[in-house]
Amino acid sequence: ALGLSTVAGAQTYPSRPITMIVPFAAGGPTDTVARLVAESMSKTLGQQVIVENVGGAGGTRGAGQVAKAAPDGYTILLHHIGHATAASLYRKLPYNPATDFEAVGLVTAVPMTMISKSGFEPKTMVDVIAYVKANKDKVTYANAGVGSASHLCGMLFMSTIGAQMTTVPYQGTGPAMNDIVGGQVDLMCDQTTNTTGQIKGGKVKAFAVTTKDRVKSLPDLPTMQESGLKDYEVAVWHGVYVPKGTPKEIVDKLNAALNTALDDPKVVARFADLGTEPEAKDRRSPAFHKDFVIAEIARWKPVIQSAGVYAD
Ligand code: MLT
Repeated sequence: ALGLSTVAGAQTYPSRPITMIVPFAAGGPTDTVARLVAESMSKTLGQQVIVENVGGAGGTRGAGQVAKAAPDGYTILLHHIGHATAASLYRKLPYNPATDFEAVGLVTAVPMTMISKSGFEPKTMVDVIAYVKANKDKVTYANAGVGSASHLCGMLFMSTIGAQMTTVPYQGTGPAMNDIVGGQVDLMCDQTTNTTGQIKGGKVKAFAVTTKDRVKSLPDLPTMQESGLKDYEVAVWHGVYVPKGTPKEIVDKLNAALNTALDDPKVVARFADLGTEPEAKDRRSPAFHKDFVIAEIARWKPVIQSAGVYAD
């Protein structure tokens, strides 16, 4: 009987609204990507995809909630690169990012920008490096907790230059941005999906982008590599997940709706304004995404181990 109702459930899916968990605060970069995608997916699926923000513990609280949810397609997760780094950063992660989820598809890979409060003294990325080396823990660095992208970017930066700043953690970089704009915190490395508006509006200073190449929508910003940080490269890839054991028909329906969203001209245009673009079509399948997560966990493990950063 259970098998039959599961099959029937998959055939009529979705017959009620879907909750999309974003594991960071509202108003931040993950939330921005999720709401754009969810709006388009709602139209395709004929049911509302409602974004719910479950911040805390660098994205691991929200992800943990989805890992424990019923595998019926009504609770889905939109998470980023932190899904892979958490596997090595947390000593006691209560779920396995690779095996407790079904991958639905990759969404986008977002460049990051090193920004500061407008009153911060350094003028260029080269100045920032010298200033942080000279002032170390007197400089405050905002992030969204251990496992967030802003944490990863800052960790790589600090270990590359060999100087530790004082970290100020938030539930997401949405609220962190308020404090950068307000001048309460000095520095933050955050995704262009959150920083573009503030940079263009002159509310924050911007020094560099974290991708290998410059970002089209912010052409004046040099890369970290151009600024002397050899090999420095981070892009924040995002993906959609459902709990392990969700029927394949449901995963495929969600993947098809995600693909439609990523081809939606409105989504593509908004992504471009925000410095990013949808994942290439050949990278959007559940199978590609599944292998990608496993490869990313393996890629970041030695980097995190050599930086010696852990959380409980
Ligand atoms: C957010 O949505 O707040 C961010 O993705 C946080 C981060 O990972 O830096």
